[in-house]
Amino acid sequence: MNGNGIRIEGLKKRYGKGDTAVDALKGVDMQVAPGEVVGLIGPSGSGKSTLLKCLGAVIGPSAGRMTLGDEVIYDDGWKVRDLRALRRDKIGFVFQAPYLIPFLDVTDNVALLPMLAGVPNGKSRAQAIELLTALDVQHRASAMPAQLSGGEQQRVAIARGLVNRPPVILADEPTAPLDSERAMAVIRILNDMARKFQTAIIVVTHDEKIIPTFKRIYHIRDGVTHEEAGEGRSLD
Ligand SMILES: Nc1ncnc2c1ncn2[C@@H]1O[C@H](COP(=O)(O)OP(=O)(O)O)[C@@H](O)[C@H]1O
Ligand SMILES: [Mg+2]
Repeated sequence: MNGNGIRIEGLKKRYGKGDTAVDALKGVDMQVAPGEVVGLIGPSGSGKSTLLKCLGAVIGPSAGRMTLGDEVIYDDGWKVRDLRALRRDKIGFVFQAPYLIPFLDVTDNVALLPMLAGVPNGKSRAQAIELLTALDVQHRASAMPAQLSGGEQQRVAIARGLVNRPPVILADEPTAPLDSERAMAVIRILNDMARKFQTAIIVVTHDEKIIPTFKRIYHIRDGVTHEEAGEGRSLD
């Protein structure tokens, strides 16, 4: 990825048609540089999930432009051809509900994506173990998802979102079920990833513990964003 990171301009999303249409995004501008972690904050129904889904190429915007590095992804109705490859290779998702695969153990849940992308199994597993260790859940490496606590499941889901080292990570309430020590550990890992791999990271959150750590915050309300400086509190 070049110096542009991820950038959207005038992004709009309308659900439905006619009288019942909902304009969930009304012209959003946002830019996240490689190596940067930004917060996205807004009340329920403000358009946070819609924006993350557009950024993750899960749904297409109705209008506006999006670029990732020097690649144009969307441009006023036009879209890049292989969205599936884009999602697989360029974007890491950390969802609110962990969605682990119930019949694979923890290591294989995390190693699955690199395996599918053609990384040899041993190397995929080694990458998985490295992240599970960083997230302090390596002792559960051979457990099945149903045997984990909610917090453990969330940490495994985070490891899975990071294992491909994607240039963009989209996290929807990643610390919601975690106590404050573990929430801070997650934020520390996201910041380390951003710095080490020049990842652009967007974190949707309500979590008062982590909001002061962002240097830059986008507020969203009724489908419109505005940007402000955060406290950027030290993580040491
Ligand atoms: N699939 C959908 N069909 C119709 N309306 C939707 C759909 N998804 C979300 N919306 C509407 O779009 C607006 C923004 O929703 P959402 O992006 O989920 O907000 P948030 O994540 O901030 O709670 C809301 O008014 C919501 O009801
Ligand atoms: Mg939401």
